[in-house]
Amino acid sequence: MSTESPSRDDAAIGRWDGAYDASALGGQANLWGDPPVPYAQTAAELFAAAGAAVILDLPCGDGRNLPPLAAGAPILLAGDTSTKAMAIARMVTEKAGVRDRVVFSRTDAYHTGLLDSAIDGIFCWDLLGHLTEPAGALTEFHRILRPGGCLVANMWTMNDCQVADDRATMTEIAPKTYIDHADFYCKFYDEQDLSELLASVGQQAESVETASWWEPPHPGYRDYVHQHESLIFRVRKTG
Ligand SMILES: C[S@@+](CC[C@H](N)C(=O)[O-])C[C@H]1O[C@@H](n2cnc3c(N)ncnc32)[C@H](O)[C@@H]1O
Repeated sequence: MSTESPSRDDAAIGRWDGAYDASALGGQANLWGDPPVPYAQTAAELFAAAGAAVILDLPCGDGRNLPPLAAGAPILLAGDTSTKAMAIARMVTEKAGVRDRVVFSRTDAYHTGLLDSAIDGIFCWDLLGHLTEPAGALTEFHRILRPGGCLVANMWTMNDCQVADDRATMTEIAPKTYIDHADFYCKFYDEQDLSELLASVGQQAESVETASWWEPPHPGYRDYVHQHESLIFRVRKTG
C-alpha cells in the first residue's frame, strides 16, 4: 500500500497542464510527438473486432494516440485533466481527419462522471504508473465499462528508460517508486506487482505482455531518443 496520498496526484494536475503550455513547449507543436505508441493500433483493432460503439482514451494527453484509436469505434471519447493538452489534441484530430469522431471532455481518471457500464473499451496509456492510488482509477474504469468491455493499459517496468537510462534523473522514495525530474510520481511494476494490484480491486488480467519500443525526443521533458518498456495488460469486465 502506498504511503502517498492522492493529494499528490491532485497537485500534479496543474503541473501537467503547465507542461503543455505554449511557453513550456518552446515553439514545438506538442509535448509527446506525433508517432502513436505501438499498442494504440492493436487496441483499436481489438475494440473494433468486438463491435465497440463507444471507446475512451484516458488520458488522451495531446492526442498522439487518437488517430489510430478513432478506427476502434464510431465514437471515441477523449479525456484528460489538462485542458491545454486537449486543445492540442483537437488540432491533432483535425489534421488526421478524425475530428468529427472524437468527443473531448475534461475527465479525471478517479472520478470520470460517466454512467455505469457506458463504455465498450478503455485505452489508458502512461497514467497508472503516475498515480499514487492506481486502484482507485482501476475501480472507476471497471464501473464505467460494460460487461464484456475491456481495459487496455500499461505499467512501466524497471527496464523503462525513466529508470534504466543513465541520463534519467530520478529520486527514489520507496522500492520501485520515484519522483522524476519534473516532480511527477512514477512507480514501476513487475508481473507480480501488477497481479497484486489488480487482485486488490478484485480484478485479474486477461493478458499481460512485455513490450519495448523507441520514442523520439520530447523536447522540454525528455530531450533524447529513448526506449520504453511496459507491461501491457488487458482486463475484461465480466458479469
Ligand atoms: C504521460 S502523459 C500520457 C498522455 C497520453 N496517454 C499519451 O500516451 O500521450 C499523462 C497524462 O495524464 C494526465 N493526467 C494526470 N492525472 C490525471 C488524472 N487524475 N486523470 C486523467 N488524466 C490525468 C496528464 O494531464 C497527462 O496528459
